[in-house]
Amino acid sequence: MMEEARVLPFPVPDLPGPGSAAVLCGLGTWLPSRVVTNADIASRLDTSEEWIRGRTGIRERRVVDSGVSTSDLAVEAGQRALKSANLEQVDAVVLATTTPDRPCPATAPDVAYRIGLARATAFDVNAVCTGFLYGLAAGAGLIATGIAERVLVIGADTFSTIVDPDNRTTAAIFGDGAGAVVLRAGTPHELGALGPFDLGSDGQDADLIMVPAGGSRQRSTHEPAEPGTEYFTMAGKAVFRKAIFQMSASAQSVLRKAGLRLRDVDRFVLHQANVRIINGIADMLGQPVGKFVKNIDQVGNTAAASVPLAMASGCENGELRPGQRVLLGAFGGGLTWGATVLRWPDIEAM
Ligand code: UT7
Repeated sequence: MMEEARVLPFPVPDLPGPGSAAVLCGLGTWLPSRVVTNADIASRLDTSEEWIRGRTGIRERRVVDSGVSTSDLAVEAGQRALKSANLEQVDAVVLATTTPDRPCPATAPDVAYRIGLARATAFDVNAVCTGFLYGLAAGAGLIATGIAERVLVIGADTFSTIVDPDNRTTAAIFGDGAGAVVLRAGTPHELGALGPFDLGSDGQDADLIMVPAGGSRQRSTHEPAEPGTEYFTMAGKAVFRKAIFQMSASAQSVLRKAGLRLRDVDRFVLHQANVRIINGIADMLGQPVGKFVKNIDQVGNTAAASVPLAMASGCENGELRPGQRVLLGAFGGGLTWGATVLRWPDIEAM
């Protein structure tokens, strides 16, 4: 005998079925108000304004005040992205960060709650500077499977909390910030529709970018961490070369998947790690450097916030215009990398 269909005790949301495209429909950012210039850094460390600007392209960066955490920046950026999308609710919040408020639990549920999205699916993604691209892919996946109809993807980091303030190289490069986008279910031909994606990793080089202490590898020894090992370390030269090679390869790979050529791309919005890396990629791809959005001079390397902050900067200064073909790409610790393409939507960054 057939069982009678059971009536669910709660209303089933009217979500679109599997196969929907993720359409970018809102963009928001937030930066701490405290500006740290190269001159500020040079006044206390053995470096100079010329070295930092000449070797990285950075003029200044923003740094959080004491007691301000990643979630504080993420909440502000998330609220602005929702306003930009003219939405009050989403079904999921994906927070890309390497600097969570605490090792446990994830920061995303707290961010979702404080934005007023109390029951949303919420989780963190740690892919260091590639985090936002991984977050976008996770959000697009939630939409494509019909699990969510609208997703808030936030990239937020406070690297000032993990860099050694006395290390003249890392202290000069990194800044704090947050950027967020809203994705909604739509069709692949709409402006703002994301995809395809190229994502990858190479754990063989996991030690090139790391915080040695604080995780289970060190804590399982039940010995106090060696002094200094709680700070972020990076093998700058090796990472520099790999960043140019891998972001170029990933850009080409995602264009192949999309059936596009390099000349079809109007703008590249890449992770802002070093202006010489961006120029190196332009060179390797044989593309005019003017196609590459740059805001590193004002914010430094903001890790997971880097790509959405650059998107907002391009949007605000008119470099990104509706209908343009835009390639997003990033590279970071893990090692990890990612790229996707979209036609720029008619949105206002907030
Ligand atoms: O976001 C995730 C991915 N991260 C990246 O992609 C960052 C990639 N790496 C870089 O951007 C660059 O490697 C750095 C900006 C980190 C360093 O620039 P570099 O041109 O590769 O410098 P270097 O590490 O090869 O150092 C060159 C010299 C060294 O001195 P010696 O050994 O030649 O005497 C450094 O000690 O520059 C010195 N140096 C500095 N001098 C003044 C390093 N940092 C500084 C500094 N001020 N802040």
